[in-house]
Amino acid sequence: MDPKLTAARMALEEVLKRQPKILGVGSGTTVHKFIDELSRSEFTGKVVSTSFDTTLRLKEKGFEVVDLMSVNRIDVSVDGADEVSTEPLSLIKGGGAALLREKVVAELSSFRIYIVDPSKVVEKPCDRGVPIPIEVVPVSLSAVTKNLERLGVKWSVRTGSGKLGPVITDNGNLVLDLECNRAWELLEEIKSLNGVAAVGVFERDLIDLVIVSDGRKYGKDT
Ligand code: 5RP
Repeated sequence: MDPKLTAARMALEEVLKRQPKILGVGSGTTVHKFIDELSRSEFTGKVVSTSFDTTLRLKEKGFEVVDLMSVNRIDVSVDGADEVSTEPLSLIKGGGAALLREKVVAELSSFRIYIVDPSKVVEKPCDRGVPIPIEVVPVSLSAVTKNLERLGVKWSVRTGSGKLGPVITDNGNLVLDLECNRAWELLEEIKSLNGVAAVGVFERDLIDLVIVSDGRKYGKDT
């Protein structure tokens, strides 16, 4: 079976066990499978979305989507990830440019589940070779990149595939992809740069359960 579908079904089981009234729904192709499964399940709660793309899918399936600005507590959330490193347990997210809202949803959630296929899991941070995305307020682009250069972090502005111009997030911001190893060493400095709205590293405090489609689980209860 498709590993993304397997992971989605495993997450649905966890979600239904917890009977959330408000469910946070992440972004990406694995989450798309989860939305399909959720729509066929007994779940009757409300949902909060992490991206425009996810909102459209949820609405298509008939879910009541609550505005992220109006909630202060989410019972459970389900999201994907671009890299899961196990030592220490942490994630790189933002491959779909939804990192800021994904982090807001994770922060508001009482229980956070991430679903991945085995190709995403590595031992050490940066082993998978994906960059660390940061969301940057456009007016601060040159200030942020000047600081990244001072810190010795290689960066590129993310552009859309097959079209001119940069990727613009749902919040009207830019995404910069940072060379992973150096950026990982300097996470705290990067987070504090003026104009950086979000960094796509999710550390232990934002992770309750990682479900890998091959049956491995990582997190507090495992
Ligand atoms: C979007 C994300 C996604 O969760 C991440 O990119 C994984 O996506 P996919 O399930 O398509 O591999 O962080 O910003």
